[in-house]
Amino acid sequence: MSSQEYVGLDVLDYDDRGRELSELISTKAGVKGLVDSGIHKVPRVFLSSADVKHQLERTSYDGTGNHVPIIDLKDYEDKRRRNIVHEILQASKKWGVFQIINHEVPSVLMKNMLGCVYEFHEQPKELKEGFYSHDSTRKVWYYATVQPVRRAAFWKDTIACQFEDMTTDFEALPLICRNPMSDYVKHIVELKVKLCKLLSEALGLESNHLELMECMEARKVVGHYYPPCPEPDLTLGSAHHTDPYFLTILLQSDIGGLQVFHQDQWIDLQPMEGALIVMIGDLLQLISNDLLRSVEHRVLANRIGPRLSAACFFSTNGRNKDRKYGPIKELFSEKNPALYKEISQAEYYKHYSVYESCGSKSLPHLKL
Ligand code: OGA
Ligand code: NI
Repeated sequence: MSSQEYVGLDVLDYDDRGRELSELISTKAGVKGLVDSGIHKVPRVFLSSADVKHQLERTSYDGTGNHVPIIDLKDYEDKRRRNIVHEILQASKKWGVFQIINHEVPSVLMKNMLGCVYEFHEQPKELKEGFYSHDSTRKVWYYATVQPVRRAAFWKDTIACQFEDMTTDFEALPLICRNPMSDYVKHIVELKVKLCKLLSEALGLESNHLELMECMEARKVVGHYYPPCPEPDLTLGSAHHTDPYFLTILLQSDIGGLQVFHQDQWIDLQPMEGALIVMIGDLLQLISNDLLRSVEHRVLANRIGPRLSAACFFSTNGRNKDRKYGPIKELFSEKNPALYKEISQAEYYKHYSVYESCGSKSLPHLKL
């Protein structure tokens, strides 16, 4: 089965679906609110009529022990650089995802980041409901992922923050997250600068090529809280998707559930103490002219929890909002002509949302 055939759009359709969704939204307490109310069954809005399929897929792991590559960044500035660049190229080509260790983000900041995601979601409802919104143009908003049409709701709550410039805007963050999040994100931004150099070299370009393109200057930071689920085989924490940006740096807690689609199978991305996960986004695949691949991933629901994760997505900032990005010309040759149309981040996001709502990949539709 190819992942493109696997669609989550097949929602359980029934008359009261709209009303039940509105009720869930109006609680402003997210999925956690449902769990706290003591439910033993997954409500219908979380069910997809493809639920049996999820069940079957859970068991499809790779028996060969194939796992997402782990790349050690130690000594990346001198003697190991060539090897690291090679490993990054191979991992990004074959998997679109890799874990990194010795990345110089202090472990205490990683712990505090997940800690504040936990603290935010664990607050009494009255303290967080003011942030509840589905308006993604806000600087900070907290929400349950309920999809009005075609897809089942996800078993998670999210706090999202988007910043052009983290150092000037972090006052907008809820107090409970302010210091841990800004300290963590500052380090993640430094790591992103490093990765951009290594990725540029992996593409055979000058080290500063990606940086000069100014395509990863803005960031959205999300803190997901996946509550324990009474019937984990009937719903998903996140349905399969690729990230619609350039690059994602992800931190997950020690409860598994994240899977990546590789060679026609869902493979667990096992939590690894101290590691960070790097994912190639759709737009990096586009500008690399398919040399690097974005990765399809999803999160299973778990009986235990909460599972926590923090993702930083890098994309173009406001100044480059309408700037169009296409495949990098230096990569072209007779054998390797441009594969995609040019598109801006804002246009791509719109394009992506259309396809995502019916569970299919959007990047192939931009092929020339
Ligand atoms: C995402 C995502 C994975 C996770 O936020 O896009 O894929 O582990 N998160 O929470
Ligand atoms: Ni994702």
